[in-house]
Amino acid sequence: AGHKAIVRVDFNVPLDENGNVTDDTRIRGALPTLKKVLADGGALIMMSHMGKPKGKVKPELSLSQIVKNVSDALGVDVKFAKDCGNADAEAAALKPGEALLLENLRFYPEEEGKPVGVEKGTPEFDAAKAEMKERQKKFAAKLASYADVYVMDAFGTAHRKHASTAVIADYFKPEDRMLGLLMEKEVQAVNNVLSDIKRPFIAIMGGSKVSTKIGIIENLLGKVDKLILCGGMTYTFAKAHGGEIGDSIVEMDKLDVALDVEKKAKENGVELIMAPDAVVTNGLDFATMSLKPGSEYKVAQASAIPAGFEGVDAGPEAQKKFAEAIKGCKTILWNGPAGVFECDEFCAGSRAIGNAIADATAEGAFSLIGGGDSVACCTKFGLTDKVSYISTGGGALLEAIEGKVLPGVAAVNE
Ligand code: 3PG
Repeated sequence: AGHKAIVRVDFNVPLDENGNVTDDTRIRGALPTLKKVLADGGALIMMSHMGKPKGKVKPELSLSQIVKNVSDALGVDVKFAKDCGNADAEAAALKPGEALLLENLRFYPEEEGKPVGVEKGTPEFDAAKAEMKERQKKFAAKLASYADVYVMDAFGTAHRKHASTAVIADYFKPEDRMLGLLMEKEVQAVNNVLSDIKRPFIAIMGGSKVSTKIGIIENLLGKVDKLILCGGMTYTFAKAHGGEIGDSIVEMDKLDVALDVEKKAKENGVELIMAPDAVVTNGLDFATMSLKPGSEYKVAQASAIPAGFEGVDAGPEAQKKFAEAIKGCKTILWNGPAGVFECDEFCAGSRAIGNAIADATAEGAFSLIGGGDSVACCTKFGLTDKVSYISTGGGALLEAIEGKVLPGVAAVNE
């Protein structure tokens, strides 16, 4: 009561081409903390990034586009500060019960703190890096000057050591900085999966590249009983075994990594499950997520995809296999879809996974879903109320599950 709280939220929400929010999970996720500040008689300053503007002002990534969504969700008229690095007047004018949203933090390069215009490895790089670190501290101090309490509640960005997620904490006394209620819920969900494992434990990892998921996959191999690998990354596995994968996405420099994952799964006694068949097409337009006129799609063996075709979903046999593997599991982690779920023709694999998770949850399993695409699948298939917990984190969730200490948490606790 009577204080001004600056709250780091993750309002990096997806927008359509007209700037409309297409999924407000992250806004809703932040509400318990935001409403508490207002209900307790505090004044609320919200700050967030959106997208990757890399230190430049990009109107299409302006947070002004979501002011109405945040106002509606909070039930107050949220004010907007057009320059997050120069919002003294707006912050000073804020009264108890009022709320202010700052413009995209990443319009300033200081937020991420990466030196601008110099290449890593060049002689100038170290000096530029040191200079940027100083600028980052000043930027963090400026943000801190708007308020007398700091709340870190941006779980989705807690794996970043940025001005607003970590450096800023230094400018508050330990008793004036804290984690928010969303952070608490997210960390609890991760703990459910990591420290209170009810078995069998299955992880379902999808997505297009092995390289971006290898850290978490290797880590999970020491924890899970079963691992489903699906989505584009499976074609790298098929290729590693000499399969024909047509035009499917593949990482040719990761074939050995794929074989190594299989070896480690065997050594750890983990049942590794991959799609025996795939839905393939010769005409997916990724820009519009639709089939080009005159193109066709059909089912093929995952290791015998004809030339000119690419795998875009798990096939019917795979869907059955995935559902059977999930059935009866007591702990379930899902990150990454099984195909191009945005396209109705290619969402059956992801739907089969989502439905099987919902059924297992109804039987008492704890299911944790994370990553924008898997969350979007749950929304598309009407499953959001049928799983145990939907995380607002993608990369942050995976790093937390890998057992890494998140910089956003460390900064507040230190
Ligand atoms: C996310 O979308 O995962 C978070 O908002 C973090 O965004 P970033 O990957 O651009 O740091």
